[in-house]
Amino acid sequence: MKRSRIILDRDFTVGEIDERIYSSFIEHLGRAVYGGIYEPSHPEADELGFRKDVIKLVKDLGVPMVRYPGGNFVSGFNWEDSVGPVEDRPKRLDLAWFTTETNEVGLHEFAEWTKKAGSDIMYAINLGTRGPEQARDIVEYANHPSGSRFSDLRIKNGRKDPIGIKLWCLGNEMDGPWQMGQKTAKEYGRAANEAAKMMKWVDPDIELVACGSSSSEMPTFGSWEMEMLDECYENVDYVSLHRYYENPTGDTPGFLARAMDMDDFIKSVASICDAIKGKKHSKHVLNLSFDEWNVWYHSKEQDKEIWKQDKWNRALPLLEDVYNFEDALLVGSMLITLIRNADRVKVACLAQLVNVIAPIMTRNGGGAWAQTIYYPFMHASKYGRGTALNTIVDSPVYSCEDFENVPYIDSVATVDDSGEVTVFIVNRDMTEDYEVEVDLRSFGDLSPDGHIYMHNDDVKAVNTEESPFNVAPSEGAAPEIHEGKALVRVPHLSWNVVRFKKA
Ligand code: AHR
Repeated sequence: MKRSRIILDRDFTVGEIDERIYSSFIEHLGRAVYGGIYEPSHPEADELGFRKDVIKLVKDLGVPMVRYPGGNFVSGFNWEDSVGPVEDRPKRLDLAWFTTETNEVGLHEFAEWTKKAGSDIMYAINLGTRGPEQARDIVEYANHPSGSRFSDLRIKNGRKDPIGIKLWCLGNEMDGPWQMGQKTAKEYGRAANEAAKMMKWVDPDIELVACGSSSSEMPTFGSWEMEMLDECYENVDYVSLHRYYENPTGDTPGFLARAMDMDDFIKSVASICDAIKGKKHSKHVLNLSFDEWNVWYHSKEQDKEIWKQDKWNRALPLLEDVYNFEDALLVGSMLITLIRNADRVKVACLAQLVNVIAPIMTRNGGGAWAQTIYYPFMHASKYGRGTALNTIVDSPVYSCEDFENVPYIDSVATVDDSGEVTVFIVNRDMTEDYEVEVDLRSFGDLSPDGHIYMHNDDVKAVNTEESPFNVAPSEGAAPEIHEGKALVRVPHLSWNVVRFKKA
């Protein structure tokens, strides 16, 4: 067995963890809405047509906020289509995903769903085909109490109280050529600034996310952030980051190292924000919204076939990645990375939530089940609360094609308000179990409060409707503590959540 050390000090903190880092995303795409959260003919449907089995899985997952309604979809979306009597709402061709959007579920229905799921809405406006005027109008519709054209329209449409959306995205991935209404950094920065001013004049309590690059691999990454922030820095509150990872060649060690790229991406964007702050002699600090992150590649070939056969149909089964065990390990490391950067990352959305690159899958008319990636997210959301600790990890390292000095043991720790310490650990080693010594001496008397772990000898193992718990967490042996140091046994290729409470 190999050895590693983790050193923690209760006074050595990164920062408060904003619970919104455990947010997710539902786009009008594929079967996320129709056949995912909404299926009126399903035996589990409630009075509004929402699947109760899906709501239960979302609540158990712990999702404080859901980004909506897109994604690429939003860049051609007219918000007015999604309100008023359902029978009067238009059917529109969605040029982002080559389907037909029926608008059966719109803003009011989604607000009802989020209430049932225990979440808030993070709402994206269209800065692709539309502009500041429509951005102003939707804030007035959603948040203004009454006595104006759009607030009164909301009341007429059945909702007296404002929906009260606090966090808004100023468009989506506006640097991408695939985006309807793609813009240069300067064009986008100008549009975002004018939209931001008008939206905040309607409701000064809202917060706004400016679009960063759609990936760190974009050729314009870096210059996009600098140029667009030059235009809108003072009027926005966060910059977005998006990143999806793939393992098409079956290189597990290389794949599991990708969280290091995520960490680098976060630090680069934070540095750019601070550079613009310096350039502008500003007192305003911009934080980060990592509002799309996940593994995404399994379904890409299948999607091409679907579009060949079925273009423009409603609720096509698009982006239905079936996640395996190694995906869960990388998702675990990505969560560790978000917590480790809790001082700057205040919002993060696992993309997405149901059926579309999602932790939750459903069958139309059938069951709902948790994919492998569901579990690390659920554990992080449940136990990764309070304060992120600066976690010193002394681990053997390896090298792979894209990274050097990748620690086999990836870890971060948190301490919550009751003094409970949680240590999250991913063991990236393909063959070796580890004995990890966790130095907890500065916390006083602690006793073990459980060790949850996930290990599978088959990195390609998946969960299905027939076998929904093929990859699922187990309870491990509680670690022993001697003189303030705990010894935790961590299996090779595993996700671990080790908890300690006040003795
Ligand atoms: O999450 C799927 C898509 O990925 C989103 O619509 C888009 O923003 C990103 O490219």
